[in-house]
Amino acid sequence: MILKDKVVLVTGAGGGIGRDFAHAMAAAGAKVVVNDLGTSVKGEGKDAGPAQKVVDEIKAKGGKAVANTDSVAEWESANRILQTALDAFGRIDVVVNNAGILRDRFFFNMSVEEWRAVIDVHLNGSFYVSRAAATHFKAQQSGCYVHMTSTSGLVGNLGQANYSAAKLGIAGLSKSIALDMAKYHVRSNCISPFAWSRMIGSIPTETEDQKARVGKMKVMETAKIAPLAVFLGSEQAKDVTGQIFAVRANELFLMSQNRPVRSVHRAEGWTPEAIASHAIPSLRAHFYPLERSQDVFSWDPS
Ligand SMILES: NC(=O)c1ccc[n+]([C@@H]2O[C@H](COP(=O)([O-])OP(=O)(O)OC[C@H]3O[C@@H](n4cnc5c(N)ncnc54)[C@H](O)[C@@H]3O)[C@@H](O)[C@H]2O)c1
Repeated sequence: MILKDKVVLVTGAGGGIGRDFAHAMAAAGAKVVVNDLGTSVKGEGKDAGPAQKVVDEIKAKGGKAVANTDSVAEWESANRILQTALDAFGRIDVVVNNAGILRDRFFFNMSVEEWRAVIDVHLNGSFYVSRAAATHFKAQQSGCYVHMTSTSGLVGNLGQANYSAAKLGIAGLSKSIALDMAKYHVRSNCISPFAWSRMIGSIPTETEDQKARVGKMKVMETAKIAPLAVFLGSEQAKDVTGQIFAVRANELFLMSQNRPVRSVHRAEGWTPEAIASHAIPSLRAHFYPLERSQDVFSWDPS
C-alpha cells in the first residue's frame, strides 16, 4: 500500500494504459480521480461510460475512485479535472498525464487541424493539468508528476510529426517542472511506454508476417507499465526526478537525455567553407542515422 491515502489523478484512464494505472494506484491505496473524455483514438466524440466503468470496477474491489469526463485539452476544463480531486478527496498528490489521441499523416499532407488537435491534447493538455495542480503542490510543498512521452518523439517515427513534436515537448515540460519545483519537493518524470492498446492496435494483420509481428506485440501488456507509475508516485521515489524511463513488457529502460556528443574548435572562427572541410568531416562519424523507434528497439519484446 505504498500510495495509502494519496490522491492520484490519472487522465485518459477510461481505457488502455491509463485504466491499468488507475487500478494499480487504487490497489496501492490511493484515492483515484479517473478522468476520461471517452473519445475515439482520433479524438472524435465523447462518452461518459469508460471513466465511470473504471470507477465502478475500482469500487467493486473496495477501492476509492471518482470519475471526471472533462477534456485535458482546454485550460478551463483541465481545472475542472483538478477541482474534482479537491471536491472528492480534499487534496492532490500525484498527477499522471496520460490522455492521448493520434492523427497520423505524412508531414507534407498534415493539416493545421491535425497538428493542433494532437498538440492540444498531449502537450497543451499536459501543461494545463500540470499547471492547475502546481499551485496546490507549491503550497503543500509536495507533489509528483508522471507524464507519458513516446519513442516516436524521443527517437522518431514516420507519419507522426504532430505526435512526435508533442511527445518530445512533454519531455522538455517535465524537465522544466522538475527544475522549477525541486525547491518545493515536487518531482516530475516521464514514462515512454510500449503497450498493446487500441492506439497501436490498428496495425493490419493480413499477411502471415504481419500476424506474427502483431502476435509478438501483444506481450506488451498495458498492465506492465503500471508498477513504474505507482513507484514514481510513491515516497520511495522521493529522490527520483527529471528522468525519462521506458517500459516494454518486462524490460525497463532509463533513456538518455541530450548532451554534446563531440565538438570542434577553430581559433580563427568558422566560415561555411571551413565547416564543410573541417567541422563536418570531424563530426560526421557521430551523426545519428535517420532511425525510427523500431530500428533502435529492434529486438522482440518479452
Ligand atoms: N500504447 C503505446 O504503445 C504507447 C506508446 C507511446 C506512448 N503512449 C502514450 O500513452 C498514453 C496512453 O495511451 P494508450 O495506448 O493507453 O491509448 P488509449 O487510446 O487506449 O487511451 C487514451 C485515453 O485518453 C482519452 N482521451 C483522449 N483525449 C482526451 C482528452 N482530451 N481528455 C481526456 N481524455 C482523453 C481517450 O478517451 C482514451 O481512453 C498516451 O499518452 C499515449 O500517447 C502509448
